[in-house]
Amino acid sequence: MSVATTANGRLDYSAASKWLHWITAIIIFGQIPVGFLLDDLPEGRVQDLGYDLHRSFGFVVLCLALARLLVRRIYGVPAAYAGLTPFELRASTFAHHALYVLLIATPLLGWAATSAYPVAVSIFWLFTLPPLAPENEALSKLLFKAHEISALLIVALLVAHIGGALMHRFVKHDGVLARMWPRGRS
Ligand code: HEM
Repeated sequence: MSVATTANGRLDYSAASKWLHWITAIIIFGQIPVGFLLDDLPEGRVQDLGYDLHRSFGFVVLCLALARLLVRRIYGVPAAYAGLTPFELRASTFAHHALYVLLIATPLLGWAATSAYPVAVSIFWLFTLPPLAPENEALSKLLFKAHEISALLIVALLVAHIGGALMHRFVKHDGVLARMWPRGRS
């Protein structure tokens, strides 16, 4: 069984961590396929709307990732699940850290690439972000490539992450998924 080590002695993640995890997951499941499809749409209003929404939700993902890091500091996290093998422990720690880095890097690269294109990044038509990079076509292409690679790395990590979570739930029948489940134990 896992050990309770959060400040308040919970076995599972804090409610705030769980909310932020699942809201991020829902957005990412829309954001990544839409990001790859947008380029193939014919130029026009639908594509413009898609780009505006993709940029806006990308900014939300960035804010959520920063909020998650803050929530981890404030509420802590449960200790690693005690039943993990040494390999599972190393692999899941690496995947979680890498996902945090990529959830911050990918929107920043998209924002910088758009600034260099140059297009202003409007967030839900409410306000505009300041440019992150100077106008430069070659730089914009490079940053968009890095943005795409970063998104592909998220996909690769998520295949392992989700596969691991489902394997714990349906093959090992242990309590790993319950630690992040909205109505998991406390
Ligand atoms: C069906 C989808 C998903 C499932 C079933 C799932 C499951 C889980 C579980 C069970 C944990 C806790 C692992 C532990 O015991 O420590 C976890 C943590 C985590 N998940 Fe997911 N996840 C999913 C989607 C995602 C997505 C889309 C992302 C980000 C793009 C993500 C990022 C993370 C991160 C960064 C952590 C570490 C949290 C922390 O320690 O602060 N997950 N996930």
